[in-house]
Amino acid sequence: MSKLKVFSHPLITHKLAMMRDKNTSCKDFRELLTEITMLMGYEVTADLPMEDVEIETPMCPMKTQMLAKTPAIVPILRAGLGMTDGFLRLIPNARVGHIGLYRDPETHLPVPYYCKLPDDISERLVLLVDPMIATGGSIVDAVDFLKKEGCNEIRIVGLIAAPEGIKAVQEKYPDIDIFVGALDEKLNEHAYIVPGLGDAGDRIFGTK
Ligand code: PRP
Ligand code: URA
Repeated sequence: MSKLKVFSHPLITHKLAMMRDKNTSCKDFRELLTEITMLMGYEVTADLPMEDVEIETPMCPMKTQMLAKTPAIVPILRAGLGMTDGFLRLIPNARVGHIGLYRDPETHLPVPYYCKLPDDISERLVLLVDPMIATGGSIVDAVDFLKKEGCNEIRIVGLIAAPEGIKAVQEKYPDIDIFVGALDEKLNEHAYIVPGLGDAGDRIFGTK
């Protein structure tokens, strides 16, 4: 079974509490999401493969290590865009792909509308990012798509997940590690996460 890492770092929990608050402004919401993504990103990237390099410091030559290959960040549109900046600040040379999916309000099933991935995506570790893992349908569809494109190494990074969503992802993809800032209680009748933070896309982009 894959690893499910639920972060309990005080700064992540504190900032997430601020994001959950319905009175938090759009600007603060976006900034907090970037900050939490960077805090999570430290651990998500802790075991990236390294390669030996030789450089010269102002003092002398030295052998050290650098990343062997930069990962690709793949946000699920729209809300995944809110986590992209945080990862790009950590890995500025990362490639970025986009997968556009929205949930049908009646069926709650994801509907695809856009996809653009780096040409060499199959050779890179993919960090698939979406703040909300509710039913898990969007993440599963995005992984299906990435697998069809030949991706072998995928990590899922979310902000809040429902148990139902984690179960759905782990049942279909038991080999993929999942990192989330919190595991909430349940879904409501509209398949929204409770207590959650509401509609992540609307809160990031101020569309409601
Ligand atoms: C939200 C969220 C996820 C999806 C999660 O996107 O960002 O992509 O719902 O739900 P699921 O796990 O049940 O599939 P939404 O469909 O609201 O689109 P948006 O980001 O464009 O607002
Ligand atoms: N999408 C969101 O933005 N929030 C939820 O709680 C569920 C799906």
